[in-house]
Amino acid sequence: MNKAFYLTTAIDYANGSPHLGHAYEKILADVIARTNRLNRLETHFVTGLDEHGQKVQQGAEKEGVTPQERCDRIAKEFLNLLQELNISNDDYIRTTEERHKKVVSHLLTDLFDRGEIYKAEYSGFYSLRAEQFLQEKDKVNGKWPEIYGEVTEITESNYFFKLSKYQDWLVKYLNDNEDFIVPRFRKNQVLEFLKEPLNDLCISRPKDRLNWGIQLPFDEGYVTYVWFDALVNYISAVGYGNESFEKYWPADLHVIGKDILAPPHSIYWPIMLKAANLPMPKQILAHGWWMSSGEKMSKSTGEVIDPLSLIEQRGVDPFRYFVMREMTVGQDADFSLDRFESRYKTDLGNDLGNLVSRLFHMIATYENGVVPVAELNEEFEQKLKSHFEEMKPKALDLFNNYQFNLGLDQIFVFIRGINKYADERKPWKLAKSDNEEDKQKLKTCLGLMVESLRLAIQLLAPVMPDVHGTVNGLMGLPPCENWEKDLILDFRLVGKSLGEKPILFPR
Ligand code: MSP
Repeated sequence: MNKAFYLTTAIDYANGSPHLGHAYEKILADVIARTNRLNRLETHFVTGLDEHGQKVQQGAEKEGVTPQERCDRIAKEFLNLLQELNISNDDYIRTTEERHKKVVSHLLTDLFDRGEIYKAEYSGFYSLRAEQFLQEKDKVNGKWPEIYGEVTEITESNYFFKLSKYQDWLVKYLNDNEDFIVPRFRKNQVLEFLKEPLNDLCISRPKDRLNWGIQLPFDEGYVTYVWFDALVNYISAVGYGNESFEKYWPADLHVIGKDILAPPHSIYWPIMLKAANLPMPKQILAHGWWMSSGEKMSKSTGEVIDPLSLIEQRGVDPFRYFVMREMTVGQDADFSLDRFESRYKTDLGNDLGNLVSRLFHMIATYENGVVPVAELNEEFEQKLKSHFEEMKPKALDLFNNYQFNLGLDQIFVFIRGINKYADERKPWKLAKSDNEEDKQKLKTCLGLMVESLRLAIQLLAPVMPDVHGTVNGLMGLPPCENWEKDLILDFRLVGKSLGEKPILFPR
């Protein structure tokens, strides 16, 4: 059985409508999945929904529905978003599914039987909003920070997972595996966190406080703490316990936001796997936040961008292009509608859209719609060809290193290069000449422009799959499935008829 590249995203909270932050992460992972597939890497891409916990239970109570009903409604919204964003996930895991609950129970039983989980009485401060116990050190200037909401002191018997036992192992693991967390500067933040001694993790919640969760298999008075439930999705989605598990695990890449790196993904998750004798995922990619007015865009801060309304106005590919072009993966970015409109007009409308429409128009008018033979015997032509040959490995390398904004920049510099070539060659002038030499120059110019556009469009496939499909369709090509084969400048369209001039990005 060949191992597939297993790619995951965070599973979103079923606690409100999706916004730009959720959309961005799914697009980022989707672009990675599509890039892999174009590189002929079998890829299994999973995303999903995190449905348990106090906030979901409270939200349902407020609404006067059952938590499951609320989750089902929210799941529809998130699934609809995936469809609207053209996300190519292979599976969708919901933590209320039987397949997931079974794996959580199995893992808990296993860890309990081996003494990795114990029961103890605990007195301390508890934050309802964060659904976690707090310590004095969590105070800032002697007060509980706003993010914790109301904090009360409680005494309770609970179950604890032995995190502290693995602290030294984890520090060593992080130091030995430079690329476990990318961007690399995030690893230092995790190591910083690990300078303080870890406490064991309280993994249960008494049912009288919270019943919307997965019951502990060894004590029916408790449900499982949400993170101990949610993180397990990464193994439950690929059938932990079944034979097929080996095809996928270890995950090759977990894509998540920086807010859930430490402690959940970089501390709890590796230690849970280590304690369960499971291999570590190969890499965690922590992206930054979309901000608005200097704050993280989130339900609680209020100002959120609804991706669906942008898609409705401008189409899905401009939205995908914008978020991938504007965000340096790992850093924060400010969302601005003006920036969005400016990218739409400039990169998409003027550079790409105009190129496509004027080129299709000229081929129709001057060449009866048939792609002519090009001869690359002059400097102008050689220059454009070299530009492609130099840009291609750079763009591929940037894509493979998740530097999509820079990769897209390379491709758009090339697209502008095609336009510049046309401005220098002036095919509209050549078309007026009766001179045989000019006629051949015209054919060369149009032939080379078509070939260059074809190559640029194949490179844009992961980010703008619809635009890619449309333009390929008009060139008589199926959607690209193999970059190695299709990113070769070989004038394969000579003699083929092109479709009607499209308007890709209407004003
Ligand atoms: N349910 C947990 C994740 C469990 S994973 C085992 C969760 N859910 S969330 O809905 O709050 O966030 C889902 C993902 O969206 C996270 O990776 C989070 O970082 C990301 N984003 C939420 N708001 C964001 C922005 N404003 N910008 C970019 N991404 C952010 O956390």
